[in-house]
Amino acid sequence: MLITSRSAAEYRAMFDLTAGELAAGSVLDCCAGGSSLTAETAGRVLAVDPAYALGPRRLAARVLAALADGDRIISAHADRFEWSWYGDPGRRHAIRTAAARAFLTDLRRRPGRYVAGALPRLPLADASVDLVLCSHLLFTWSDRFGLDWHRRALAELIRVARHEVRLFPLVVQGTGETVPFLETLRAELHGLGHRTRLCPVPYRFQRGADEMLLVERAPSQ
Ligand SMILES: C[S@@+](CC[C@H](N)C(=O)[O-])C[C@H]1O[C@@H](n2cnc3c(N)ncnc32)[C@H](O)[C@@H]1O
Repeated sequence: MLITSRSAAEYRAMFDLTAGELAAGSVLDCCAGGSSLTAETAGRVLAVDPAYALGPRRLAARVLAALADGDRIISAHADRFEWSWYGDPGRRHAIRTAAARAFLTDLRRRPGRYVAGALPRLPLADASVDLVLCSHLLFTWSDRFGLDWHRRALAELIRVARHEVRLFPLVVQGTGETVPFLETLRAELHGLGHRTRLCPVPYRFQRGADEMLLVERAPSQ
């Protein structure tokens, strides 16, 4: 799996986030990879990813390699992507490169905001952040992680969230197909008292990926 880098602008679009929502409370980015949401919010957002255990040198090599690998995948599968949000491949490359550089700089400046951890067990206390953002792990990698892993990963993201979890995208990477067990998991969450909604988002890139899953945590849990 590539350790990709996305900017705060991409996160705002993927999660239909307002500046107010980002500034209002504590936010967790899991899995953050080489993204610059933490850097661009002056460390307000806590970043978690298992790749942080690699250490700065190996992590930097993987993050920078992912920029070129991502470009190669996109040009080899041009039919899977649309450009209305980025404009063109050059602009996307520039945004991703700037995000990777901002991440690597901030990693040295604020190492304590980058925590090594992997779903489905995060090194965080119950209800320790207001909002959890999860981009490009659950659902998109459902060809690698199955229903039971998703069930445990979702439970863990909800455990650490005081209010809300947002997940994007909801389609399988590569094929863009819908995830067969998404509705099963939503029904299970409803049974536990959580509320979920599929919400349209302004971000466009992978064809078919135009909504996020928003989970509102049951108040008493
Ligand atoms: C495709 S990248 C997404 C990074 C970033 N959120 C983005 O949208 O560009 C997927 C990330 O998931 C991380 N990852 C892999 N397995 C994980 C797990 N079990 N728990 C949390 N993160 C994981 C990888 O290290 C990688 O950085």
